[in-house]
Amino acid sequence: MPQRPIRLAIAGGHRGASFLNALALLEGQIELAAICDPSETVRDRWSQTNPGVKTYDTYARLLDDPDIDSVFIATPMTLHAEQAIQALKAGKHVLSEVIAAVTLDECWELVETVEKTGYTYMLAENYCYRRETLFVKNMAELGAFGEITFAEGAYIHDCRDLNIHIDGTRSWRGNLRAGNSQSSRGNGYPTHSLGPVAQWLGINRDDRLLRTTTFVTQSASRHEWAKEVLPEGHPDREADAWLNSADSASTLIQTEKGRVISLRFDSASPRPHNMVHYGIQGNRGAFVSRRHDDEEPLVWIDGISPGVSPANFRHEGMARPVGHEEMGHPEWQLLWDLADRYEHPLWKEHGADALSSGHGGGDYLVLKDFVEAVMNGSRPPIDVYDAVTWSSITPLSVQSVQNNGAPVDIPRFNRNS
Ligand SMILES: NC(=O)c1ccc[n+]([C@@H]2O[C@H](COP(=O)([O-])OP(=O)(O)OC[C@H]3O[C@@H](n4cnc5c(N)ncnc54)[C@H](O)[C@@H]3O)[C@@H](O)[C@H]2O)c1
Repeated sequence: MPQRPIRLAIAGGHRGASFLNALALLEGQIELAAICDPSETVRDRWSQTNPGVKTYDTYARLLDDPDIDSVFIATPMTLHAEQAIQALKAGKHVLSEVIAAVTLDECWELVETVEKTGYTYMLAENYCYRRETLFVKNMAELGAFGEITFAEGAYIHDCRDLNIHIDGTRSWRGNLRAGNSQSSRGNGYPTHSLGPVAQWLGINRDDRLLRTTTFVTQSASRHEWAKEVLPEGHPDREADAWLNSADSASTLIQTEKGRVISLRFDSASPRPHNMVHYGIQGNRGAFVSRRHDDEEPLVWIDGISPGVSPANFRHEGMARPVGHEEMGHPEWQLLWDLADRYEHPLWKEHGADALSSGHGGGDYLVLKDFVEAVMNGSRPPIDVYDAVTWSSITPLSVQSVQNNGAPVDIPRFNRNS
């Protein structure tokens, strides 16, 4: 265990800044030593607000700094795998923003580099650490849903305004979603939806992802938006700029145990943002997340939740057929009503601190688990195999779409499992 706090550097100063609260809460265990961003404006802002933090204009210079133990990679998505591999080779631990990699080659190289170097690699999938997702994980692990057969997750967030910079140039997101990008017709951002679901189902532990298929919709919303907000003559006002794009991608995944996972990714369709879209079906219970901010998540657990349910008829020695009328109606109840029984221990202990950081507490708990993994040399809760398994849905979905939705095998990235 290191004697001094972990010395962290952040690459990518925008998203990186949202971890400042979490870093302050973990004072004494981890401290921010440097940031790296090619943008002078971003570096100047950091120098003004955090004068003790070194600033680097290139990633290579950051990696040359022997005072830095760990790097949080919060750069554009297409840089994550390459920068993680470079950091590991330079002897640094890595916490990577989502998604971990955008091609299968990158996934494999990342796995090989972590295995060879032995440094800690963790994916910062903060949606796995929201109160609700931890709560449901605890329920799933305690068997509350019985045998889980189906789970779903979606990331639906109108991010069209992030596609073009204020000066009219395309952002990295715009380049990914526009017609010339490889991943524009596929599930381009699968880990917020799949990460929590994979943890509920024990993927890479008790079960594994076998094969996947994806269908995408036509592109209707990006062009509509571009015509409204971009000036006459801007090339992205043309329909063909977004022609090869898709508004919505629907992915199905089959697991080894026979479960089915349904995912949706949509960063174009206009509607209010709702952070969570999840569900679970088991043979003894079900969970549905709230559809908008004025709702609360609901569960139904056989024998616990109100209303008539199969459990009412499960008397010893009295098994008999039950008619549909007699069966009555099981009733949903608020997830939070079961807090005494199922609140996740991590949330019980750290929920109050977590809520003062970003993304419903996720940013703090991600960083906390990363610190513990580095300090103890232990397996991080979201390790490189989870990171690439979840992220591989992006290139695999593109392959599936190119083949009219044909199923594609999902690689077994951990060859020792
Ligand atoms: N987990 C979450 O909830 C969440 C939320 C937002 C963003 N993200 C992820 O964080 C990442 C960054 O997103 P963002 O919204 O901050 O993007 P952004 O475009 O606003 O910021 C990216 C920053 O990276 C800098 N950068 C570019 N190349 C670099 C390099 N080679 N080295 C160092 N810095 C470099 C840019 O100058 C910019 O300041 C993305 O991968 C995104 O998917 C995750």
